[in-house]
Parts: sequence; C-alpha cells; structure tokens
Amino acid sequence: MGEIHRDVVPPFLRRVGVETGFIEASAVELPAMSDDIEPPVEPQPLAIGVLISGSGSNLQAIIDAIADGSLDARIAVVISNKEAAYGLERARKAGIPATHIDPAAGGDYRAYNHAIREALERHGVELVVMAGYMRLLGTEVLRAFPGAVINLHPALLPAFPGASAIRDAFEYGVKVTGVTVHFAEEEFDRGPILCQEAVRIDETDTLETLEKNIHVVEHRLLPEAIGLVAAARLRFEGRTIHISE
Ligand code: GRF
Repeated sequence: MGEIHRDVVPPFLRRVGVETGFIEASAVELPAMSDDIEPPVEPQPLAIGVLISGSGSNLQAIIDAIADGSLDARIAVVISNKEAAYGLERARKAGIPATHIDPAAGGDYRAYNHAIREALERHGVELVVMAGYMRLLGTEVLRAFPGAVINLHPALLPAFPGASAIRDAFEYGVKVTGVTVHFAEEEFDRGPILCQEAVRIDETDTLETLEKNIHVVEHRLLPEAIGLVAAARLRFEGRTIHISE
C-alpha cells in the first residue's frame, strides 16, 4: 500500500493521497512558491475528474449534490471512453468540460491511458472518480494519482466483482446485495473499501426492480463518499479505511 513510483507522480501535491496517509507528504514534491503569487487563503473545493462510459446518472448525482451545496467539490472534467455516452451531454449542460477519449485512437491501451492521465492533469484533477466507467483503469493513471482514484461498484465487494454485478447477485439468489465505493488498485474491483450500503432482495423483486433500488443507493452513496474524501475524513491503516466524525 502506498508505494510511490516517483517517475510517474507529477511534481505537484497529490492532496488526497497525502491527507489520507496513503502516501507520505515527503514523497511528493510541493509546488515551487513564487514571490509574485499569493497562496490562496481559503482551501479550494476538491477538483474531481469523473470517468464514465454511459448514461451518467451517477455523474448527475454528483452534479446535483454540488449544486445543492451538500457536496463541497468541483468537477474539473468528465471523460468518457464512449463518444455517445449521455453523461457527456449531462456534463456539457452543466457547463463542465467533457471529453471523449477513444480507446482505439492512439493505437494501444498505453496510449489511451496516457491520454486520460494527460487530460486529468491538464484540468488540475485531485481525485479521480470512476462512476460507471466500464474499463480497467491503466497503471499509468493509478500511479499518477496514488490513493486518489475511487470506483463505484453495484454489489457488496468482494462479492460479485465484474461488469454484471447486479445480475450476478440476483441470479445467485442472495438475499442482500448492495453498493460499494472503494479505492482503485491495479487489480479489478479490489482496493480498500471506503463505504458500503446493503440493498435487500425481496420475494417480489425482479432484476429490474433490483437495478432501480441499487441505483437509488448509488446516487446517494457516491456523493457522500466523495464528500468524505473532500473533507479529509479518511485515514488508511493497511487496507482498512477509518472515517472520522
Ligand atoms: C452503475 O450501476 C455503476 O455502478 C455500474 O454502471 C452503472 C452506471 O450508471 N458500474 P450511470 O452511467 O452512472 O447511469
């Protein structure tokens, strides 16, 4: 946990990773102070970059939480691997820079992930949020944002990882499933768990009603999880995350 690859950590403070204790403050370089620039008096809202692949209803939940004042953060950029993702439209309607990065364009997976990292850094992102991003995030991005990439998953991890978690849980016949927000690692759906909430599966539930119930919880839990990061209320101890009041 917290191993830093200095070759890829860019030369500015990774606020989230340092505040959670995921990385040592001494492991990142602080920006050089210029005599001409006054340091900001008030801390700025956490700048988040949201990765999506589809409808973007979770992105919308973040946009709404920021708009109604329940989440103190700022969406700096939205990135989709799918050009037709409706989430890009939602972002543009909200005046947020939104960009499609084509996985096929650069020739290979490395070039694609390099383009994602480049876009996140260009927009000054401090926390990367995978909100319905249906691809594995490349090592380069994870290493450039140590302890500062979170993922939303529609099941209670470590149960039912993968891309069809809601269906898998339903077809397995479990009575309780749920939603997980966790820090991303290079292994799919495996990083330290930030928060989870259970969703019951009753006799009357169908796959459709379960999906609806999961989405209701996701839309509440993801902004809450971002809020915990933004308020620096997390502390890592091994893979356990402690949350302060
Ligand atoms: C969510 O259920 C997310 O957990 C899953 O994909 C869905 C994305 O929905 N991985 P949306 O694009 O946020 O509407």
